Amino acid sequence: MPDPIVTLADQAAAAQARLDPATWAFFAGGAGDEHTLRANIEAWQELTLWPRVLRPLAGGHTRVRLAGRELAHPILLAPVALQRLAHPEGEWASALAAAAQGAGYVLGTQSSVPLERVAQAVLGDPGRGPLWFQLYWQADRGFNRALVQRAEAAGYEALVLTVDAPVQGMRDAERRAGFVPPPGIRAVHLQDAPLPAAAPDTYCAGVPAHAPGWDDVAWLQAQTRLPLWLKGVLHPLDARQAQALGAAGLIVSNHGGRTLDTTPATATALARVRAAVGAELPLLVDGGIRRGTDVLKAIALGASAVLVGRPVVHALAAGGALAVAQMLRLLRDELEMAMALAGCASLVEAGPQLLASG
Ligand code: LAC
Repeated sequence: MPDPIVTLADQAAAAQARLDPATWAFFAGGAGDEHTLRANIEAWQELTLWPRVLRPLAGGHTRVRLAGRELAHPILLAPVALQRLAHPEGEWASALAAAAQGAGYVLGTQSSVPLERVAQAVLGDPGRGPLWFQLYWQADRGFNRALVQRAEAAGYEALVLTVDAPVQGMRDAERRAGFVPPPGIRAVHLQDAPLPAAAPDTYCAGVPAHAPGWDDVAWLQAQTRLPLWLKGVLHPLDARQAQALGAAGLIVSNHGGRTLDTTPATATALARVRAAVGAELPLLVDGGIRRGTDVLKAIALGASAVLVGRPVVHALAAGGALAVAQMLRLLRDELEMAMALAGCASLVEAGPQLLASG
């Protein structure tokens, strides 16, 4: 283990030292020239905070309301595929850590651990955050319905349909490294999936002919009693369409810069989407969140909460469940400090005025 870990960047360095280069390339890489991958991080850094001083801070807390519940803090774990590549316990360990830290957890369709096993590990924890299931649309409606019913039966509380990856992005680092998952690590829910014949060995399953459309979103809503979120919305026009369709909320995301390169940073898109949908529709955001100040800025721009993706697998690789818990604790501690230093006793006080002096 390198020097003491005090930041998420330290965990990333520890992970890189431990993972083989091809696996590192799979998790760390972005699409194309990685403009969007970098832009996500830089956009949060470039937003400046205008702190207020001498404000009452007694009784301060990080609690937020999301999906009808009060959460201890606004940090969720994003769906990340094949987490057993990072640690033998994979999604089971990251979900356990999330529950221990009161963080929401979104299990990916491309999980390397069965959804029931993950649910059983965390549903009994009274301090846990929400447990959601991310759906990658598969070529057959019946298969999608069956997977959704499985998630419902296991106790998942919302569905997150990823809409920004009808095909997998061109991830050059991963292709150069010739990444292929080792035997025994696979997307366990997709073993019997109707794989598109042209692309049997890709991980973001699906080819354009099978890509979901708005009619499929409406169909999916009719199949489930679970609230349906859309993940991967950037354009304000799409945000309005999703709102009109009654989406429970949106995750403003560019897939961590892994799909279409040169899209806007999520910080930029979040502000536009919030302006387009008004104050009420719940918005989450991911992409480049590495610091408590990033979380605070996301809330100030109108997010209810944020998700972290790569930091989860960095932590898993660095030290399993304990390190994932440490990652969440570090981010939350940084958020609390940033709030106090910016003069916010609670996140309700974090609004646009924090980012502008006018
Ligand atoms: C990826 C897919 C699995 O980004 O979401 O690798």
